[in-house]
Amino acid sequence: MRTFYVIVASRSRATAEKLAGHLAQRREFEVKLRVIANGHSDPLHGVKELPELLLMHYGPGNDELEYLAEHGVREQLPLIVCGPVDDPEAMRLAMRAGARDYLPENASAEDFVASVLRIQEETIRARTAGSGKLIVVANGKGGSGASFLATNLAHSLVVDGDHRVTLVDLDLQFGGLSRYLDITAKVGILQAIDAADEIDEMSAQAYTHEHASGLRLLAAPAKHLVLANNISIEKLETVLDAYLSINDYLVADSPARLDPVTELFFERADKIVIVTQQSLPHVHDSARLLHLLTSEIGIQKKRITVVVNRVSKNAQITIADIQKALRTKEVITIPNHYRIASESINAGIPVAEISKTAALSRGIRKLQVALTNPVSQPSPGFLKRAMPNFLGG
Ligand SMILES: Nc1ncnc2c1ncn2[C@@H]1O[C@H](COP(=O)(O)OP(=O)(O)OP(=O)(O)O)[C@@H](O)[C@H]1O
Ligand SMILES: [Mg+2]
Repeated sequence: MRTFYVIVASRSRATAEKLAGHLAQRREFEVKLRVIANGHSDPLHGVKELPELLLMHYGPGNDELEYLAEHGVREQLPLIVCGPVDDPEAMRLAMRAGARDYLPENASAEDFVASVLRIQEETIRARTAGSGKLIVVANGKGGSGASFLATNLAHSLVVDGDHRVTLVDLDLQFGGLSRYLDITAKVGILQAIDAADEIDEMSAQAYTHEHASGLRLLAAPAKHLVLANNISIEKLETVLDAYLSINDYLVADSPARLDPVTELFFERADKIVIVTQQSLPHVHDSARLLHLLTSEIGIQKKRITVVVNRVSKNAQITIADIQKALRTKEVITIPNHYRIASESINAGIPVAEISKTAALSRGIRKLQVALTNPVSQPSPGFLKRAMPNFLGG
């Protein structure tokens, strides 16, 4: 797993340890302590490897914030300041130093974790800004329809959304996505990974196959078994970046398990679609996957969309039951349509090419639109959080 490197700085070792302790519950944070010695104003004096985030404790009279504000040399380095409650001077200094958040000293561990997670996510987003978006479609449980929906979602992004799209098969053991598009795949993700050191925008296309619609497929190996643990995650990330840079969207079809390969894609995903169905085992397994994603990998729930596939009005488990069990208000439903779905899979033809007006095709378009609408996510400005009295919050 990729870690997020945080330095916690304070003039007091006990305070630095307490703040670091708040973050210790998350294994994705790599936290180092820095006790600022007397006579130094630069909280990062002598630090060789700059962190991705500086969490700095401020005590009245200390001059680190002023130093950061004046020197501005590390503008790019995100800063969270922790200081006294209701201290306008501390907040003014924090703002001048470019702090992204201000947390009172007595804030809870959850508040600290949430603030760091927010900045971690912004950092990852910024790194991939300007490139394509990654949508990972994951099986809540085997056989839910993830491969079928990933293929048809990617197809809809091309034909309805007019986007450049590559569909990625992440099922390295059984990967059969090429069949869903009637493509004979000779090369794919493994060859792209082998060539990662030289891969560029031009050569990346050579590892994909183009469908008549314009959709491209980065296939999984068809002949031999590959274990995720044997794949270089560094190279895989290079490959991922190469395809993001030449596409508007990458749609990855992920099996229902966490391994180093799927974990990288989940971490980097702009949107994760969990496909489930109206049965107890489906709901149970989907709830577990959701829990793993949000608690273990730290993915924010707003990035996850639950899709109930093969919806039937007569099923014992209702959509409301699923919303309750998965603790999510919004779910997208896809109707059950055995004939068109089987015809599509057996012939390797996207559903919209069989019938554009079928309820199933309309459901897939609805999913495509829901996933591509920009999300509005105004994170509470720290002024509002730190000084509700001033702002009337
Ligand atoms: N909306 C639907 N209506 C009817 N049948 C469907 C629908 N969606 C999927 N199916 C059927 O469900 C079967 C499983 O679909 P698919 O292969 O996409 O599942 P999966 O979740 O990728 O499974 P796996 O665990 O094998 O990766 C297919 O035979 C397909 O025809
Ligand atoms: Mg599948």
